[in-house]
Amino acid sequence: MSKNILVISASLRNGSNSDMLADEFMRGALESGNKAEKITLRGKCINFCKGCLACQKTGKCVINDDMAEILPKMQQADVICFASPVYFYDMCGQLKTFLDRTNPLFPAEYNFTDIYFLITAADTEQSASEGPLKGMQGWIDCFENAGLKGVVCGLGAEKPGDVKSMPAMNEAYMLGKQA
Ligand SMILES: Cc1cc2nc3c(=O)[nH]c(=O)nc-3n(C[C@H](O)[C@H](O)[C@H](O)COP(=O)(O)O)c2cc1C
Repeated sequence: MSKNILVISASLRNGSNSDMLADEFMRGALESGNKAEKITLRGKCINFCKGCLACQKTGKCVINDDMAEILPKMQQADVICFASPVYFYDMCGQLKTFLDRTNPLFPAEYNFTDIYFLITAADTEQSASEGPLKGMQGWIDCFENAGLKGVVCGLGAEKPGDVKSMPAMNEAYMLGKQA
């Protein structure tokens, strides 16, 4: 059955490794006949959550920025795949800011059940992904119908494009194909 798949790519850098994994996930997802869209946070205006909690009553954020058009897409997606570089052994700040701004979805009806996470790091140790995974799991735990269905780590990817020659590319493609 065709699914509605949304990929959120968080790196802002030219020739981003995590964005390359996101593209491979997209390629697999589309090849399997799904409807898939990738949104990059590059060039997007996404401000910090103010913590006012108005959204918990109104369903809408008081901040008027690019999050307004992304939230309905998240709400309607069956599958959401996030891609992030590791920054200081955590997910990058722009993805954390993005996740904080999903608070209007917390009391809302939403479709997504399957979450995927694509991570790149310069470090070659698997432990480099622990921080980002803990943060992402914290977000997922707040959406009780959702679960983490797959993770790809592009480790040892330092310079732009380093991930291209790594098995992580095919892993991301295969994950997208079976998503
Ligand atoms: C601000 C900053 C912090 C970083 N911190 C880490 C880190 O803690 N551990 C690590 O392995 N790599 C770290 N890196 C390297 C990136 O994770 C790595 O280059 C990754 O491939 C970048 O992904 P991207 O090309 O998708 O942005 C850091 C890079 C930047 C710019």
